Amino acid sequence: MITFKEITKENLFSILRLKVHDHQNDQVASNAVSIAEGHYDKNAWFRGIFKEDEAVGFVMLDFDHKEKEYGVWRFMIDKKHQGKGYGRASMDLIKQVIKEKVPEVTEFYLSYVPKEEGGADEFYRKMGFKDTGEISHGEKVMCFKY
Ligand SMILES: CC(C)(COP(=O)(O)OP(=O)(O)OC[C@H]1O[C@@H](n2cnc3c(N)ncnc32)[C@H](O)[C@@H]1OP(=O)(O)O)[C@@H](O)C(=O)NCCC(=O)NCCS
Repeated sequence: MITFKEITKENLFSILRLKVHDHQNDQVASNAVSIAEGHYDKNAWFRGIFKEDEAVGFVMLDFDHKEKEYGVWRFMIDKKHQGKGYGRASMDLIKQVIKEKVPEVTEFYLSYVPKEEGGADEFYRKMGFKDTGEISHGEKVMCFKY
């Protein structure tokens, strides 16, 4: 069972220790940087991803209530835990969390670093996201519609 847990003094280091594969380092910021950014951004909502009591990933969502725009800002599953279905289970939870926090939501966004091979886009397509054709800060934008 995958759950999202608030990051506390007690579990902080278990989240900071999570790493992606070397070839994925250009796709997502470190969790330390994301947590620091999240603390200074009122739109950020971030949690550790846990399989029972073990930290396996990190997610940060962006709730821009003013612009009515919502999205996945950071998302990672630790390299040791990839390929076990945790990414899919976490994405199902992300869809639920956004809907619970913003019941009128009809869609949300994310962006990915375009790569010839090994990017996250194929994963997101499998999770029901579609390319919008837009580019934001050099990243390709995708949208999920409920
Ligand atoms: C992308 C990521 C979150 C996927 O997590 P995961 O736990 O390995 O994914 P799952 O095991 O739940 O895989 C679900 C499905 O997606 C597929 N999949 C996972 N990663 C994939 C990839 N990079 N390319 C193609 N398919 C992929 C799996 O094969 C599986 O397919 P299936 O259901 O048909 O068998 C993880 O690889 C990761 O953290 N990557 C590095 C950070 C990153 O890119 N974050 C996104 C920033 S935009």
